[in-house]
Amino acid sequence: MNFEFTEEQIMIRQSARDYAQRELIKDVLERDAKAEFPTQHVKALAELGFLGMLVDTRYDGGGMDTVSYVLAMEEISKIDSSVSVIMSVNNSLVCYGIEAFGTEEQKEKWLKPLARGEKIGAFLLSEPEAGSDATSQRTTAIDKGDHYLVNGVKNWITNGNSASTYVLIAQTHPDKSHKGINAFVVDRHSPGITLGPHEDKMGMRSSDTHSVMFTDVIVPKENRIGEDGFGFKFAMKTLEGGRIGIAAQALGIAQGAYERALQYAKERKTFGTEIINHQAIAFKLAEMHTRIEAARYFCLNSAWLKDQGKPYGTASAMAKYWAAETAMYVTTEAVQIHGGYGYVKEYHVERLMREAKLTQIYEGTSEIQLMIISRAIAG
Ligand code: CAA
Repeated sequence: MNFEFTEEQIMIRQSARDYAQRELIKDVLERDAKAEFPTQHVKALAELGFLGMLVDTRYDGGGMDTVSYVLAMEEISKIDSSVSVIMSVNNSLVCYGIEAFGTEEQKEKWLKPLARGEKIGAFLLSEPEAGSDATSQRTTAIDKGDHYLVNGVKNWITNGNSASTYVLIAQTHPDKSHKGINAFVVDRHSPGITLGPHEDKMGMRSSDTHSVMFTDVIVPKENRIGEDGFGFKFAMKTLEGGRIGIAAQALGIAQGAYERALQYAKERKTFGTEIINHQAIAFKLAEMHTRIEAARYFCLNSAWLKDQGKPYGTASAMAKYWAAETAMYVTTEAVQIHGGYGYVKEYHVERLMREAKLTQIYEGTSEIQLMIISRAIAG
């Protein structure tokens, strides 16, 4: 791949950096403490064109490439991953799926407002008994002639309450296992949809996560995405791109914690010198920096492959695996370098450590990424 960024990519990175360093930083600690949804920041990201940045301009998106998306996700995640996860789910899981596999009517009706950031979306795949094992869908969407009737429960839904548009994965033909699964666009305000309470999460506390219950929800026939039975492949293909976004998020968390630790190590003195002059600390920083650089190359490589129209599923699994593990490693070391100060909220690194943990869990755990990579190796 070409490692030189274009002028446009540099401009996009700068605009994300400016917004994050100037605006997001102001109230990030307060929003984390109160688990408060970042309404005004979501609006601002919509104005910057970041909520639908990957969508073609024909559908009111930003028409930007995936490399730019990685750069913007990294900058925003350096400061606040509660905001970047909203951006990532909207772009990669919701807009992408409708744009890549939806009909023209679905794109007109559902994609355009999502791409403009007037509405945000949520991706409903996980269930109480279908997390890593996504084929075990229990939510049913039964064909009733002119509509589908949906019943079931979805878990851990990012943007569960704030979204207006759901992309729902459900089982239509239980006898056909994953080949009977379908994907649908669903109006979140349809009668029969109720939400569980806001999940009180360890990290990314100001993004809203809910269970979503469906009781006899009527979904029009025209809301199905793709052919009958395409839903599982739809989910897998959509997640391949989603993992690039979450890898970039993990990269940003790691980079944010590293920059804070580096700064601290240059200022804090012990035994008569700045702690960066102690090899125990300098080696930690060198290791952190090296792992982050590797994560950055993985992220950019998977983005570049996607932009070139080449297969990127294994590359995005490797990027997500390595970046998430790196985020956990680097944030833990950043807390250690800060000593006692790292354990209090004011220095941000404990929050980044809490955020890092989630990147090892959602959009496929680290173990799921290794499963995808090992299957690719085995052919
Ligand atoms: N692209 C296209 N098709 C694919 C595919 C891909 N990437 N991966 C699998 N498939 C197809 C297979 O070819 C197979 O099709 P056939 O039967 O026609 O041959 C079918 O799907 C079943 O595949 P597998 O046998 O590989 O299925 P599996 O059950 O063994 O494993 C898995 C699949 C990769 C483990 C999958 O279940 C998985 O990705 N699990 C993790 C789910 C996940 O990431 N959840 C995240 C929730 S979303 C979220 O977190 C969002 C948020 O809020 C932030």
